[in-house]
Amino acid sequence: MKKQFKGIALLIAVMVFSIVATACGSSNGSGGAGGSVSVGVVLPTKDEPRWVQDEQRFKDALAGTNYKTEILFSQGSSAKEKENVETLLNKGIKVLIICPQDGDAAAAAVEAAKKDGVTVIAYDRLITNTDAVDYYVTFDSLAVGAAQGQYLIDHMEGTSGQPLYLYAGAATDNNAFLFFQGAWEVLQPKIADGTFKIANSSEAEKLKDTKDLSRDQMSSIIGQVTTNWDPNEAKNKAQTHLTAAAADMKGNVSILAPNDGTARNIADVFGSDSEITSYVITGQDAEQASIQYIIDGKQSMTVFKDVRTLVKDAMGMAVEVLDGKSPETTGSYNNGTADIKAKQTDVIVVDKDNVKKELIDSEYYKASDFTGL
Ligand code: GAL
Repeated sequence: MKKQFKGIALLIAVMVFSIVATACGSSNGSGGAGGSVSVGVVLPTKDEPRWVQDEQRFKDALAGTNYKTEILFSQGSSAKEKENVETLLNKGIKVLIICPQDGDAAAAAVEAAKKDGVTVIAYDRLITNTDAVDYYVTFDSLAVGAAQGQYLIDHMEGTSGQPLYLYAGAATDNNAFLFFQGAWEVLQPKIADGTFKIANSSEAEKLKDTKDLSRDQMSSIIGQVTTNWDPNEAKNKAQTHLTAAAADMKGNVSILAPNDGTARNIADVFGSDSEITSYVITGQDAEQASIQYIIDGKQSMTVFKDVRTLVKDAMGMAVEVLDGKSPETTGSYNNGTADIKAKQTDVIVVDKDNVKKELIDSEYYKASDFTGL
């Protein structure tokens, strides 16, 4: 019954997609030279595989359609991001799909877009403290963190007093808070009862009896263990932490790493420390390099966020807006100023046991992309 409903919904989605694809514009893809552009897409940086993945999935979704869409990258700079939005506004976009570099700083850019009558869709990361956001398409970020925390509990080597190393994303990214919150809610009871002992954050240690952390409390922890989403910063922090760690913080350890890019570098550091007997480390994004790490036993898990779905949702929404319709949403997120209507997608935990089923059989990757599968 449920399956049938899903099938029909998918069919309708595909039909809407193709009908509107023919109805809206004459050129497509990431081009945009000459003429007006209907949909502008702004992504944070080409330096992280996650966002190159998204660009590719947008291109795949647009191939063979007549959407006039342009994709620009902000290269980690909010100033560049604002410039990108202005460029797209000058090209006459009607819908802006934007994943902010910095959730607060992006408010100015989307306010400019709103002034021009453009519909703003926040993509993956919420834009905070402004009412100039119409929609939010996202994965279930609390579930991402919860899955990471649960994995550490389910796969720990010892039974009590296991050292736990915490790492987080960038404090400028609202998702970093959601991921951390999701993980903390699951891990905290196991920290409070002594199953885990925190190895690298005095702020987390101070708060170990508090399950529901305020934003400020989370900030104090994230301030200590942030990677800024930068794999090099993650590596440096991990080295510093291991250098400072006493013998009782080594042996079999558990590591909360917020995403794949940081996880691989942190794993390399822990893997090369002779006093680390074994480690379990989380990740997120199902980046190709991390799938290879999982196959090789160097990263324990990743949270697979099927970017094809997010792209389909974002473009589906954009098309409905262009068509004068109101996109369907499944809930809302408060961004500090307003409740933003949101469409949320589930995530899938992937480790070596189900990597083939979830990522190869679903045609997200090809078996030939990997060795030793
Ligand atoms: C988050 C995103 C993650 C990860 C991270 C680093 O906002 O949801 O998938 O890629 O940024 O860019």
